[in-house]
Amino acid sequence: MSDQSIHHRFQAAQVLVRDAGLYALQWFRNLESLHTEKKGPQDWVSEADREVEKMIQKRLKLMFPEDGFFGEESGFQQKDSEGLWVVDPIDGTSCFLKGLPSWCVSIAYVVEKEIEIGLIYAPCTDELFAAHRGNGATLNGRPMRPSKATLLSEGIVGLGYSPKSSIEATQKAFAYLFENGGVYHDIGSAALMIAYVAAGRYLGCYEYQINSWDCLAGICMVRETGGWTNDFLAKDGLHSGNPVLAAAPGIKESMLNLFRAAGH
Ligand code: IPD
Ligand code: CA
Repeated sequence: MSDQSIHHRFQAAQVLVRDAGLYALQWFRNLESLHTEKKGPQDWVSEADREVEKMIQKRLKLMFPEDGFFGEESGFQQKDSEGLWVVDPIDGTSCFLKGLPSWCVSIAYVVEKEIEIGLIYAPCTDELFAAHRGNGATLNGRPMRPSKATLLSEGIVGLGYSPKSSIEATQKAFAYLFENGGVYHDIGSAALMIAYVAAGRYLGCYEYQINSWDCLAGICMVRETGGWTNDFLAKDGLHSGNPVLAAAPGIKESMLNLFRAAGH
């Protein structure tokens, strides 16, 4: 696919991710009337997740009918296309449903196992994180830079946990972090926590097992700022998920040690 085609998609999807976030915000302001269902342990879906995904899919189909689509709520639509949109309509659904502000819309575009575009919009803070492979990454239009730290004791690490994770591995990751002077946050949205690594707010981020729609956009951003991530799309990570590990450049070795301590 030509650079021009990807650039065109990057421009169009920046408008779309913001529109989708503002659409979700309308439900967020009327949570009492929202219909919600449980998908599994600690895993919910609401009318807002479904409607936002439908809106994103419809607009992408109109603009780029030749592209594939893979969304958290509706799965795969059109598999044999060169480019694939991977969409999480609301990452941080548990926060969203409880009126907490840390949730976002996450959209990635993948061509032949390369994450070409990563976009995350957090409506409650009006923050648009955007990355285009080979062209850098921005937060509301300003270049993002990762932390310059070289020690875990110099900042915060995002450590996610869900029932998909191993309890034992996560406990070991926590132990490694605490023993090395670190502290953790889990704000309930892996997409945002990974974007925070790109933005220099967090030193790194780890979760034992996560889905591709939760992390591909953030991974694109971390790489574009010169940070490091694991090869998430290895071993069918797109469909089946994988562990995720992201780090500011000077923290890569420490995060790899944390990963090993967790037993990976
Ligand atoms: C979840 C969030 C959470 C992470 C889970 C994800 P959802 O996505 O990203 O931070 O720990 O693994 O499933 O359910 O809010 O879309
Ligand atoms: Ca989600």
